[in-house]
Amino acid sequence: MKNRPMTGAHTNCRRLLNWIRRTAEHCKPDHIHICDGSREENDRLCRQMVETGTFIRLNPEKRPNSYLCRSDPRDVARVEHRTFICSINKADAGPTNNWMNPAEMKDRLNALSAGCMRGRTMYAIPFSMGPLGSRIAQIGVELTDSPYVVTNMRIMTRMGQAVLDVLGERGPFVRCVHSVGAPLEPGQKDVAWPCDPDNTHISHFPEERMIWSYGSGYGGNALLGKKCLALRIASVMARDEGWLAEHMLIMGVQNPNGEKTYVAAAFPSACGKTNFAMLVPPKAFKGWRVFTVGDDIAWIKEGHDGTLRAINPEAGFFGVAPGTSMKSNPNAMLSLNKDCIFTNVALTDDGDVWWEGMTDAPPAHLIDWRGQDWTPDCGRLAAHPNARFTAPIRLCPTFDPEWDNPEGVPIRALIFGGRMSKNIPLVFQAYNWTHGVYLAATMGSEATAAAEGQPPVRWDPMAMLPFCGYNMADYWNHWMNVGRHLQDPPRIFRVNWFRRDDKGRFLWPGFGENMRVLKWIIDRVQGRGYGVESPIGYMPRHRDIHWQGLDFDPETFYELMSVSREAAAQEARAHEELFDMFYDRLPKEFVHLRELLKSRLWRSPEKWELAREIV
Ligand code: GTP
Ligand code: SPV
Ligand code: MN
Repeated sequence: MKNRPMTGAHTNCRRLLNWIRRTAEHCKPDHIHICDGSREENDRLCRQMVETGTFIRLNPEKRPNSYLCRSDPRDVARVEHRTFICSINKADAGPTNNWMNPAEMKDRLNALSAGCMRGRTMYAIPFSMGPLGSRIAQIGVELTDSPYVVTNMRIMTRMGQAVLDVLGERGPFVRCVHSVGAPLEPGQKDVAWPCDPDNTHISHFPEERMIWSYGSGYGGNALLGKKCLALRIASVMARDEGWLAEHMLIMGVQNPNGEKTYVAAAFPSACGKTNFAMLVPPKAFKGWRVFTVGDDIAWIKEGHDGTLRAINPEAGFFGVAPGTSMKSNPNAMLSLNKDCIFTNVALTDDGDVWWEGMTDAPPAHLIDWRGQDWTPDCGRLAAHPNARFTAPIRLCPTFDPEWDNPEGVPIRALIFGGRMSKNIPLVFQAYNWTHGVYLAATMGSEATAAAEGQPPVRWDPMAMLPFCGYNMADYWNHWMNVGRHLQDPPRIFRVNWFRRDDKGRFLWPGFGENMRVLKWIIDRVQGRGYGVESPIGYMPRHRDIHWQGLDFDPETFYELMSVSREAAAQEARAHEELFDMFYDRLPKEFVHLRELLKSRLWRSPEKWELAREIV
């Protein structure tokens, strides 16, 4: 056995050390480094990546301690068709996941991985998803040959020696193996972004709580604490242990009286979670404040007091850059002033970053995300549409100190929203938990750049289609059960910021103005707001929304809230087809709920404009 040099942090955990050695035996890195998470370690890795051309140091006067990275153009987003749930039984992965027999997948990955880290260092990254030592948190260790992953994981999670200290000699941890799949022959010069796109596999072994990702260095494919652990593996843990792991932001909303209400909201990828989580209330909402607990993932468990409590397992934002500006999301912009990593954005002539939508007028010259000269008239995008920033949550001006509370925050409302240009109203409320689960399960959304190869519109239950680690029907049953055991379950809402008029323009201004919808939601939760019963749920009338400071005429509001009977009936028929896929495992309630919906629609007028009738 070759004795590889091992440096870095200290651990007494035999299981961890043995696993590190076994993996190294197979992947054959030149060197092993256990990450301690220190500033020095991070600086060293950044310097090294600047030397190899992976990182470009940004102008330290404009963005201290921040870097730009350009990926291989073939490795720019999550790859859902190469993502696998390798449960022992195929039925446990369900019809919405790619499945492969675990032994077969391991054979395949073992073959690909033999010697795959040659010429590189293998980093062992100990990380905690959630407050260190919290009963809701989980420890993972990622073995990776990508220093880019190490520096991102240091921002996205609590990482390093402190995690090993909590782990102790025999604590449990989730094993995560990652390789970019690009070994170096002796003397071979490295590329800035090594990867193996033709052989990419993002594999999950839910029974073993193990993750094995090969071939990609980008985002959710490679930062394994995020989608792989905190959603796909955690959703299985949550099913087994009676909690929820969700693709949700968490925010606190404080009114002028000091009353703070926490809500969690699930929107599909690149549909506005980051924006909503740090929303700036309009001027007319004097004394209202928004606090950010998280922008992507929520772990939700019943607390000792019977409320549902949520933690953000992450410690940073991996946010969509394009479209982010001081106008659309000032709090995100202000989180990016230092200590950040930018991936696939453009570089300005003075060593700063730029992306579409950051400023009204683009700079006269840039280096684009592919490293080429760019001018406003060149006809290409300067930043990739899925360009991202990695930023520590603590730098966000709306950072909620409760973020680190090991007990989590009490959730009073769950909000689900897709990107739908037609038919789905701005906001409506479920009649009860069961109906809410149905509304969340039947949500649809239009394609974004966050994943490769999506159809124009797809059904995306709970915004979890790419992230649920087990059978989707079992997941819905689990949701039903969670609500059944709660004394006062959170209220459930659907929202849609993305409805358009005949000319394709957004009907709703969105962004900060979403506060108006949020206020109605909070009023409903706190027992103050009025809602009219419609065939699809409770709805606000024009006069139930706080309009001060926004000239929004009732006619446009009715258009935004209207439901055509024909379109809704067609939807209900489509639900029938979706549910067929799950026949034996489908919650029985869903069949009743669909029939009730159909009969309510049957009795309703052709175009449901209750808001107008009652005004
Ligand atoms: P992931 O990180 O991929 O899970 O996504 P996310 O949900 O955090 O996405 P993000 O907030 O970064 O979404 C960005 C996209 O949503 C951009 O295209 C924004 O312009 C758009 N967006 C966000 N809020 C609104 C809104 O209120 N109205 C409209 N029309 N667009 C919005
Ligand atoms: C998403 O796609 O929902 C993300 C980005 O949050 S990634 O981490 O790449 O999955
Ligand atoms: Mn996400």
